[in-house]
Amino acid sequence: MATTAPTGSPPSPPSLTHPPPPRKLTSVKALSESPGLSSIPSIYTFPKQPNHEPVSDTKEPIPTIDFSLLISSNPDERSKTIRELGKACRDWGFFMVTNHGVPERMMKAMIEVCREFFELTEEEKGESEGKHVLDPIRYGTSFNPSVDKILYWRDYLKIFQHPAFHSPSNPPSFREIALDYSKRTRGVMKEIVRGISESLGLEDKYIEKASNLENCLQIMIANLYPPCPQPELAMGLPAHSDHGLLTLLIQNDTVGLQVLHKDKWVNIYPIPNSFLANIGDHIEILSHGKYKSVLHQAVVNDRDVRISIALAHGPAADAAVSPAPMLLEDGQNPLAYRAMKYKEYVELQQSNKLDGKSCLEHIRNRGI
Ligand code: OGA
Ligand code: NI
Repeated sequence: MATTAPTGSPPSPPSLTHPPPPRKLTSVKALSESPGLSSIPSIYTFPKQPNHEPVSDTKEPIPTIDFSLLISSNPDERSKTIRELGKACRDWGFFMVTNHGVPERMMKAMIEVCREFFELTEEEKGESEGKHVLDPIRYGTSFNPSVDKILYWRDYLKIFQHPAFHSPSNPPSFREIALDYSKRTRGVMKEIVRGISESLGLEDKYIEKASNLENCLQIMIANLYPPCPQPELAMGLPAHSDHGLLTLLIQNDTVGLQVLHKDKWVNIYPIPNSFLANIGDHIEILSHGKYKSVLHQAVVNDRDVRISIALAHGPAADAAVSPAPMLLEDGQNPLAYRAMKYKEYVELQQSNKLDGKSCLEHIRNRGI
């Protein structure tokens, strides 16, 4: 399992200096719709990554967890599913979740209303721009244009949805759809986190209590990847791990997400009516590295618009988690990671270049 960015270069130490306000940039959507665009501006040219060979298919399919069995009242079904969940976390860090009970129409409505948001005029979207990385509503392009030397072929909308729910006022139906969807998704997340806790041999509510999940920071990240005339040169979102505990992602039917598995990029094909789940850096911290957050990236194509909506669930903003003492083997130090409040960790990641697992590296205490 790789622990650094696939470029092979050592991660640059992130810092918490406050960058200048982002430059005003054209959205990628507007750029991709400019008449006669046949090549990308050079600032969008992403350097080739020599270290990993992309693969389009793998014989080993990504694991699937049947959520209805995870919450089953039949103890045998439940414990078998928890074992599968543990294996999925260890082997892949990613898994599909089926039979989760969130209505398909709700997932589709969420994707459609995000599409409508991105179709607003630049001026209307600009009202949601946000100034600081911890502002509860932030529309933008690339990842962090004030530090990105290369721009990514992606526009985004990030919204904090729990413990306080926020919504852009436009489109008018956004609020109601997102409120329902974020609640239902939190319910699924909680059960999966309980399962993960048990799969580690911990009490089912261990992670919930340690991270104050009742007040979890839930962030919706809607990503828009418009068609790109030179998809092999551009990048939608570079390799990174997610900062929280568990991300639940839905997408339209366009492929684009790749996961690093056994040192190769694997394309993940959307399965309708399911979530794609992945564990984030805070599960790696809590589990003392027994489960690792996994690098993933989003590539683009020259035909179809791709929309994905990730709901990132982390500890409460003020919680600072540490490895579970019961998971430490003899001689291992509980101070393996410097405790940091989750909101500071999010700020660290969002204020810097998106660079593999550099934030986790930053808080890892070396030599103990
Ligand atoms: C993310 C992410 C991937 C995608 O938003 O953190 O990894 O497929 N998105 O858009
Ligand atoms: Ni991600």
